[in-house]
Amino acid sequence: MNRIVVITGATSGYGLATARKFAAAGDTVIAVSRNAEKVAAAVRENGFADGYVLDVTDYAGWVAFKEWVLSRYGRVDVLVNNAGGGVRISAIETFDGETVDQTIALNLNSVIYGCSVFADVFKKQKSGTVVNISSVCARHCWSSWSVYAAAKAGVLNFTKSLYVELRPYGARATCVIPAAASTGFQKSAGIGEVSQSLSTEDIASAVLFAADMPAGAVVEDMTVWGLSQEMDPI
Ligand SMILES: NC(=O)c1ccc[n+]([C@@H]2O[C@H](COP(=O)([O-])OP(=O)(O)OC[C@H]3O[C@@H](n4cnc5c(N)ncnc54)[C@H](OP(=O)(O)O)[C@@H]3O)[C@@H](O)[C@H]2O)c1
Repeated sequence: MNRIVVITGATSGYGLATARKFAAAGDTVIAVSRNAEKVAAAVRENGFADGYVLDVTDYAGWVAFKEWVLSRYGRVDVLVNNAGGGVRISAIETFDGETVDQTIALNLNSVIYGCSVFADVFKKQKSGTVVNISSVCARHCWSSWSVYAAAKAGVLNFTKSLYVELRPYGARATCVIPAAASTGFQKSAGIGEVSQSLSTEDIASAVLFAADMPAGAVVEDMTVWGLSQEMDPI
């Protein structure tokens, strides 16, 4: 389709699978993540158009990234705010101020930063799709996941508000709400591996579906579970 597609956290898990799907659809994929070696490897191994090293919790970094993208490509058609992580998944009394701040910064502030920096691009273009990656933790509660859940619930409501703001300009925002899949998430959060039937490709398909919707329609949000993950009541 040759859209200009920016995906954060594109070196692993859901983000990498999503980047591969857009690239396979003929889009120009800009793979963004914080580790230069991983970004270079992802671009090289998957034939992505470009890579950019950005810590998504760094607002000034987002501003510089926007200038870089626009100077090279002139526009952005799809922005996928996917980078995130557990930081700490444990009982609330084990958190200190720094870990709370890190969790919110990585999972909520980063998404708000990216959207606020790129919003005027979509408004001027009068087109564009933002897809923000939340989590089923935004709507369902598990013990030890409270801080992460608060951030991901913030992503869900932020995305709805963003859509209301973008809609008059012909741009749109979708929140994809994944359940559990085995990715780098478990290792970086220091929790055990999951053996769910949901795959990274399933979430990539959901993101692509939202971006592929006709220009006059929007997917407000989409929750995707693996059938093997028990949730009673859903
Ligand atoms: N896996 C699940 O079960 C699950 C369920 C629901 C929602 N999610 C959400 O899905 C999204 C993707 O997670 P994943 O499961 O695919 O995890 P993952 O495999 O660990 O991938 C996370 C990606 O984000 C990057 N990243 C982390 N911190 C960053 C930062 N400060 N700046 C830039 N990039 C950063 C990572 O880079 P490095 O490789 O350098 O760490 C990696 O590319 C996250 O928002 C996560 O919260 C995951």
